[in-house]
Amino acid sequence: MRKRPYSFLQIPAILGVAMICLSLPVVAQTAAKQKPVKGRWMDSSWSPDERASLVLKEMTLDEKISLLHGTGMEGISPISPLAIHSNGGAGCSIGVPRLGIPNIQMSDAAYGVRQSGENGRYSTALPSNVGAAASWDPNAAYEYGALIGRELRDQGYNMSLGGGVNVTREPRNGRTFEYMGEDPILAGTMVAQLIRGTQAQHVIGDIKHYALNDQESGRNAVNVNVDKRSMRESDLLAFEIGVAQGDPAAVMCSYNRVNGDYACENSYLLTDVLKKDWKYKGFVVSDWGGTHSAEKASAAGLDHEEPGEYFYGDPLKKAVQSGKVPMAEFDEHVHRVLRSMFASGVIDDPPQKSVVDVMGGLDVAQKIEEQSIVLLKNEGNQLPLSSSVSSIAVIGAHSDVGMISGGGSAQVDPPGGNAIKPRGQGRTHWQDEIWFPTSPLRSIKAKAPQAKVVHDPGTDPSSAAAVAKSADVAIVFAYQWESEGMDLPTLGLQHNQNELISAVAAANPHTVVVLETGTATLMPWIGQVSAVLEVWFPGSRGAEATANVLFGDVNPSAKLPMTFPKSDADLPHTTIVKPPKESIPNEADPNHWKQVLEGLPAFQIKYDEGLKVGYKWYDAENKPVLFPFGYGLSYTTYSYSGLKVTPGDKVTVSFTVQNTGNREGGEIAQVYASLPASTGEPPKRLIGWSKVRLKPGESKEVSVEVDRKYLSIFNVQQNAWQLVPGDYNIMAGSSSQALPLKQSVTLQ
Ligand code: BGC
Repeated sequence: MRKRPYSFLQIPAILGVAMICLSLPVVAQTAAKQKPVKGRWMDSSWSPDERASLVLKEMTLDEKISLLHGTGMEGISPISPLAIHSNGGAGCSIGVPRLGIPNIQMSDAAYGVRQSGENGRYSTALPSNVGAAASWDPNAAYEYGALIGRELRDQGYNMSLGGGVNVTREPRNGRTFEYMGEDPILAGTMVAQLIRGTQAQHVIGDIKHYALNDQESGRNAVNVNVDKRSMRESDLLAFEIGVAQGDPAAVMCSYNRVNGDYACENSYLLTDVLKKDWKYKGFVVSDWGGTHSAEKASAAGLDHEEPGEYFYGDPLKKAVQSGKVPMAEFDEHVHRVLRSMFASGVIDDPPQKSVVDVMGGLDVAQKIEEQSIVLLKNEGNQLPLSSSVSSIAVIGAHSDVGMISGGGSAQVDPPGGNAIKPRGQGRTHWQDEIWFPTSPLRSIKAKAPQAKVVHDPGTDPSSAAAVAKSADVAIVFAYQWESEGMDLPTLGLQHNQNELISAVAAANPHTVVVLETGTATLMPWIGQVSAVLEVWFPGSRGAEATANVLFGDVNPSAKLPMTFPKSDADLPHTTIVKPPKESIPNEADPNHWKQVLEGLPAFQIKYDEGLKVGYKWYDAENKPVLFPFGYGLSYTTYSYSGLKVTPGDKVTVSFTVQNTGNREGGEIAQVYASLPASTGEPPKRLIGWSKVRLKPGESKEVSVEVDRKYLSIFNVQQNAWQLVPGDYNIMAGSSSQALPLKQSVTLQ
């Protein structure tokens, strides 16, 4: 069961209650309807902190409480009559109109603005976040975030709930598509730019889910056991970089427990690390139903409860009145919310509802997808296809009508509804497989107008093989759908798709596989096919972008942000730990949300692989992989030479990359380091990269400045990053397993 706030259709039913509430002390109205407010806090020449302090002094206790919680959501919490002021998004917190403080209108926005279907609006679907991470391009991430910020504003929202950056410890996690891969430096850098892009549009940005919400199974109950050094150097490092470089106005704490305490009442995570060590100035908002107490959560550093007021309404008010929550602690929560509102510009420049720039959004989505598609195999230069090819079989995965998207609270609604039958159902439904109306068949036909292009649904491997046999080339589209609220049982393809690919490959030696997945995929058929493209969940213009890569109008340049293992058995945990019955809320009980809020019995996961996340695991365990982290081919080739490492405040790593083929392309040149053996670190870690565009034959010197923190370990005794003096091996090349340049350097 899943939740959403009141839709507009329900509003008349609650209008009566709302009228009664007009006499409540806090009455929300949109800022636009207010007379201009006079007050020194409205003067933007003061700093956000000063402005927050000034307005805080004017506020009553009820007004303060109101800014610290939401107005409810069906199936998760009771709904306040004030929910009538919701803009239709996942959250709405009531502001203080008499003081010029607007409501906070929150919308999910992982790869685009959610709930546009039920609100009668339009949103662009960008490629899934993991796909954007495959571009390794911080500018693309910024554009991604900026598009989300613009569309949020156009739809009347002033806060994004995007910014997912949990590192991929468990690639079967159903939300892997919403995150940015397995490396904390890549993920943190990319999410920071996404947040900056969003906030530049004067929208409150968010980073989530803090922290270690690495599987969906039993997420409201699970207790993650992990040692401090491992979390600081992996999962938390992604957030540390995201916070330092992206400066998000909000951090969403996660559902799970970490080392005993729920993340949203975990003083180590919220206060010691986030607010003290990282000097975070924004506010912490709980994931929806992730608040479990008033006093404990407040003391631990939770600033705002969503979606309701089960703890941060009356219970918090009473705790403040009785002195159980000190006034200074309480005021700090309010100060943080206000500060974020001033800092992000939502008070000085509130959103004006407008028409989304559909065409502009489609162009951005396509451009980013073209940079996100990873070419994994290309035997005998099968790709690019020639536009003079005479016959093509297009097979599988609804490739005649659409391409798959990621589900859950990230879901963007396709225009016209789901592209597969039954069509035209309006809003999307929780955990339906949703296909965007971007047709690979049509895009392929457009690229090769003279060719005979035939389609087969791929539901019967033998008839697909018969269709493939008579074509020059067979392109099999295969998918793995993912969603919040579930995990994958395996990284292997489902619905008979492995059999389909093998049958087609046996019939046609020119078989190309296009994978629409949100995580790594197992490929038992890899030796049988000639080419493989990973296009992820490709967004609104997925088909056009895919066809551009298939036919060589775009030379692929993306690299994997996560390892593709050979089998589930090679993962650190061969199966996902499932919750026992008592840790699962009983959805038959209409009050099951109370069981969640009041705390389900914990079950345990031990991340005993510790520091060995992603490629660090396979390296350390000497496990061969299918495709390594950082891997991706191009239609041209590159060579690397002349490595120079210069120690200093930053360590400068320079080398030359040459395009040795005959097409222009973009190469993501990567730099890794092995730390001194005494540190006990996995064999290597990514420390930087540079994306360089090169014409055929052209060479460029690449220079990567490496932050010393990226070469450090986290010393738990000193609670500080420490660069351990010794010999460091610096390596550069085209993937984590193709590093032709190596140089040792002594650092202290
Ligand atoms: C998800 C969050 C989301 C929130 C609001 C939760 O279930 O975990 O990522 O922002 O719902 O929809």
